[in-house]
Amino acid sequence: MINDRKIAIIGCGFVGSSSAFAIMQSGLFSEMVLIDVDRSRAEGEALDIAHGVPFANPMKIYAGDYADVADAAMIVVTAGAAQKPGETRLDLVTKNVGIFKTIIPEIRKSGFEGVLLIVSNPVDVLTYAAVKMSGLPEGRVIGSGTVLDTARLRYMLGAHVDVDPRDVHAYVMGEHGDSELVAWSSAMVAGVPLNEFCELHGHHDHKTAEARIAEDVKNSAYEIIEKKRATYYGIAMTVRRICTAVMRNEKCVLPVSSLMVGEYGLDDICISMPTVVGRAGVVTRVPVEIDESERRQLNESAGALRAIMDKVDFSA
Ligand SMILES: NC(=O)c1ccc[n+]([C@@H]2O[C@H](COP(=O)([O-])OP(=O)(O)OC[C@H]3O[C@@H](n4cnc5c(N)ncnc54)[C@H](O)[C@@H]3O)[C@@H](O)[C@H]2O)c1
Repeated sequence: MINDRKIAIIGCGFVGSSSAFAIMQSGLFSEMVLIDVDRSRAEGEALDIAHGVPFANPMKIYAGDYADVADAAMIVVTAGAAQKPGETRLDLVTKNVGIFKTIIPEIRKSGFEGVLLIVSNPVDVLTYAAVKMSGLPEGRVIGSGTVLDTARLRYMLGAHVDVDPRDVHAYVMGEHGDSELVAWSSAMVAGVPLNEFCELHGHHDHKTAEARIAEDVKNSAYEIIEKKRATYYGIAMTVRRICTAVMRNEKCVLPVSSLMVGEYGLDDICISMPTVVGRAGVVTRVPVEIDESERRQLNESAGALRAIMDKVDFSA
């Protein structure tokens, strides 16, 4: 039986612990189990985060193991190695798929029936690995995808047009990574096409601004990692946002990564596009208009992912 008030987080490094801290403050759950191969780290994070509970919402927070995840409503996976100097992207993929082979079969064995949220990178490949290894219906496995990139985009666009980012609607789609794209042709400020809104406010050189903002969004993670070694607050809020959408059955539109079944001509690949997210995970997808050049970029993004996936063994 699913306990709607319980969540598990697997991997308690920078991203897992910050996500746990954000979730503790959300009031969404009353029980949170933290799991890490480094048991002592999980115990330390559980204690530290639990000491904030008297200022937030009553909640039981503890370090545990896979026996504890069976009845969780959600599991968030943030376990994984980060890229080391000299290591190729493929080396990292192979290493993290290897880590998933020790995690996802354990989740499967537990009988978990909730929504599985993948955050570890490369998130699209690992979401695909989780779909293949978990035995869960594909809609219940989602990757954080380009939800964080989209938050960065809306933040920067909000500053560019001087409007609350919550009233800026624009999506980053495709791979969470170097080949991602911005769906500029569907970008709006409160229902007004972005470029029209920009004209009204004295911005006329759209192509230059679009290229600059898209590059800044794409390079955000590199810049933050260079300056402070890791990114974790933005992704922690992203995890909290996705958990809220699921647990409150919000049916809000978020560009999560999930298994494509023909959308934009894509199949058998996990990639991000605007998606209605609710208690069942993926409720439906929103095929926003993209122009020819954006469609080409999306196909190239899928091709880049496919080239990596073809070299990986996804058997559990
Ligand atoms: N999707 C996104 O938008 C996004 C954003 C930031 C980071 N990330 C990714 O999140 C992941 C974690 O990043 P981090 O900065 O927290 O790294 P980190 O090294 O601080 O933490 C990783 C944790 O995973 C644990 N771990 C390793 N193998 C494990 C296993 N088999 N079972 C359980 N735990 C295991 C480690 O002990 C460590 O505590 C990375 O893959 C990173 O690239 C994704």
